[in-house]
Amino acid sequence: MNMGTKLAKAFNEQINREYYSAFLYLAMSAWLNEQDLPGAAKWMYVQYQEELVHAQGLVKYLMLRGDKVDLMPIEAPKKEWTSPLNAFEEALEHERQVTKWIDDLAKMAEEEGDRAARLFLDWYILEQVEEEANGEENVVLWGRAGDAPSGIMMLDVHYGQRGFSPDEIPHLD
Ligand code: FEO
Repeated sequence: MNMGTKLAKAFNEQINREYYSAFLYLAMSAWLNEQDLPGAAKWMYVQYQEELVHAQGLVKYLMLRGDKVDLMPIEAPKKEWTSPLNAFEEALEHERQVTKWIDDLAKMAEEEGDRAARLFLDWYILEQVEEEANGEENVVLWGRAGDAPSGIMMLDVHYGQRGFSPDEIPHLD
């Protein structure tokens, strides 16, 4: 059961944004690694891996519905930030934008009367609540660490503990 051209196009645009998100976090990971912050770099690398799963979920859903997957060029992310806090602030800002895009996609599914697509997007809506909460915590913690070397070092060790366990997006396997 196809979704129809309009909704499929919007899903494809979101796939591109999720891959861009992955690129953005990979760039942040590389930059944090250059700043000798391996823990923060690892945290961002896990974030990169999560974004790939978000994109793959949307791709799989298009395939499940029999709609065309239209992969588009991925915009190059910026490569430098002024501080770890600046990178985490921009990550939060980006996640807030992603939340708006996901909400718009859900609204379109409602307008198109596509209940299956709308239900599928529930997982993404809830995921964005977690993404923003994590982002807000990051900004608070890196803001508190400020320029204090001991605070930054402790925080970096804490961030290095993040592991990757791929999200299971319902109804795809
Ligand atoms: Fe795919 Fe970080 O939202």
